[in-house]
Amino acid sequence: MRPYVIVNVAVSADGKLSTRERRQVKISGREDFERVDELKAGCDAIMVGIGTVLADDPSLTIKSPTLINKRVKMGKSDHPIRIVVDSHARTPPEAKILHKGTGKRIIGVSESASPENKTILANHADIFIAGATQVDLSFFLAQLSNAGIKRLMVEGGGTLIWGMISEGLVDELFMFVGNIIIGGKDAPTLADGKGFINEEDFPVLEMISATPIEKGVLIHWRVKK
Ligand SMILES: NC(=O)c1ccc[n+]([C@@H]2O[C@H](COP(=O)([O-])OP(=O)(O)OC[C@H]3O[C@@H](n4cnc5c(N)ncnc54)[C@H](OP(=O)(O)O)[C@@H]3O)[C@@H](O)[C@H]2O)c1
Repeated sequence: MRPYVIVNVAVSADGKLSTRERRQVKISGREDFERVDELKAGCDAIMVGIGTVLADDPSLTIKSPTLINKRVKMGKSDHPIRIVVDSHARTPPEAKILHKGTGKRIIGVSESASPENKTILANHADIFIAGATQVDLSFFLAQLSNAGIKRLMVEGGGTLIWGMISEGLVDELFMFVGNIIIGGKDAPTLADGKGFINEEDFPVLEMISATPIEKGVLIHWRVKK
C-alpha cells in the first residue's frame, strides 16, 4: 500500500524549475499560488527532497486562513504533515519546514544517516528509516501509508520527482508552465536523475486538462499505469 501521489510544479516555458545556481525564481503568480494552497490543503502530507530544503528553505504551510479553518472544521490539523526525503539527515535544525506552523513533520533517512544528526532532528520531526544508503522511496511510501497518509503532494525538486516517477510512484501531475525562459543545461527540470534509456520505460501521461491561467498554462496529467 502507498498513498495517492500528486506532483505539483511550476516550470518555465523551457521546462526549468529554477536557475542553474538552483536559485528559486517566481514562475507563477497569485492565481496559481492560491490553486496550489488549495491542493495542499486537500492533502494529508507534503513532501520535498533535501535539495529543495537547502535551496529554498520552504515552510510548506497553508497560507489561506479560510483553508486552514476548513481543515480544522473537518477535524484535521492546521497544516498537512511536512516531509523531507533526506538520506543523510542533512536538514538544518533551523530549517523553516521544522518550525513554521504547528503540526507534525517526518524526515525520511537511510540507515547510513549520522546518528548525531538524527538525534538533533528527532527533537523536531519523526524520523523514518528506509533504505541502506539512500531513501528507498517505495518502502518509505509504505511507511507513510501505515502512518495514515492517504493523499500525498510532492513539491519537488527534479531529483526527487525523478526518483518517484522512475519507480512508478506518481498518480497525477500538475504543471504550471510560465511565460519565462530560464535556460541552462544544468538548471533543474521536472525529472532529473539519470533519465530513461529505453522508450518502453517512458511513463505515459494522459491529459486531464490544459487551462490558460495568468500568463501561462496549467496542465493536469494522469500517469497511465
Ligand atoms: N519550480 C518548482 O515548482 C520547484 C519546486 C521545488 C523545487 N524547485 C527547485 O528545485 C531545486 C532543487 O531540486 P534538486 O533536484 O536539487 O533537489 P530535490 O529533488 O529537492 O532533492 C533531491 C535529493 O533528495 C534526496 N533523495 C533521497 N532519496 C532519494 C531518492 N530515492 N530519489 C531521489 N532523491 C532522493 C537526495 O539527497 P540525499 O542523497 O542527501 O538524500 C537528492 O539529492 C531548487 O533549485 C528548487 O528551487 C522548484
